[in-house]
Amino acid sequence: MSDSDLGRLSVSLVDVSDGSEGEFRSVWREFEALLTRKGYGRGEVIRDEGMPRRFYAVRHWIDAAAAERCHADREVQALTSRLYRIARVTHVVNGVRRSEQPRLLLDERRASHLEADRRTGFDRRVEDGGRPEGDRRRSARDRRLGPRRLRENAGEVDLVAAARRAREHADAPFSRFRVGAALETADGTVITGCNIENATFGLTMCAERVAMFKAISEGHRAFTRIAVVADTEAPTPPCGACRQILWEFGGNLEIALANLTEQKAIHRLKDLLPMPFDARLLPEQ
Ligand code: THU
Repeated sequence: MSDSDLGRLSVSLVDVSDGSEGEFRSVWREFEALLTRKGYGRGEVIRDEGMPRRFYAVRHWIDAAAAERCHADREVQALTSRLYRIARVTHVVNGVRRSEQPRLLLDERRASHLEADRRTGFDRRVEDGGRPEGDRRRSARDRRLGPRRLRENAGEVDLVAAARRAREHADAPFSRFRVGAALETADGTVITGCNIENATFGLTMCAERVAMFKAISEGHRAFTRIAVVADTEAPTPPCGACRQILWEFGGNLEIALANLTEQKAIHRLKDLLPMPFDARLLPEQ
């Protein structure tokens, strides 16, 4: 396959909700017919053998311009909104990727959807009791908190449990409010974060952003869900700054909010950040 062919392929991971497979097939059939009829390219859908109701939706574009015309097509948008009602869609490969136009790729992705002198602080931290608890966790299971490949179990990962374990590493001597987060990438990898405070207060970093920045720094670019855990009766939602960062890199993520014993709520980021600022609003360059 030549480089130019690779640049004209779009792949999305489609997780169809229980009982909606028929509707998915009919939406996809209509979409494939439309791709051919209007000369945008052709479509193909591949079922994930290891995961019930997971499909790979592949679009082979005639060229990048055809892909752009297709995205702007009203009929396509109507089909897409039907699809979004019955499935979680994660864009994995962006078909209008053109090496000479990195900016376009960035916009497309963003549009769609982490001591100086710490001795005094260190003394306080030792007294705090938070950190030693984290350090005490030395069983083999607990050491696996870092990025893990969970591809074979993707979709069944207990993100909330991962966020609870991550919370045990929180470094929060000033607020004593400890938060854990677990972010799931499109390939099923789970990347965790905890809040990390600073004596200046302002340099404190929330658990959600730690998780997201870790993921980005390790090359992940497609995300499906994040779980946030705090020891509170009411659910602890991501702060405004985290919502913005999650939107930037994760788009309309599913957000599970939980405490130490139960899951409290599930939201979509779009509902928590209804009028987001993003790259679509920047002038074309
Ligand atoms: N915090 C998070 O880590 N995530 C949230 O969703 C809310 C707040 C942290 C920041 C700070 O360390 C502490 O909780 C109190 O605000």
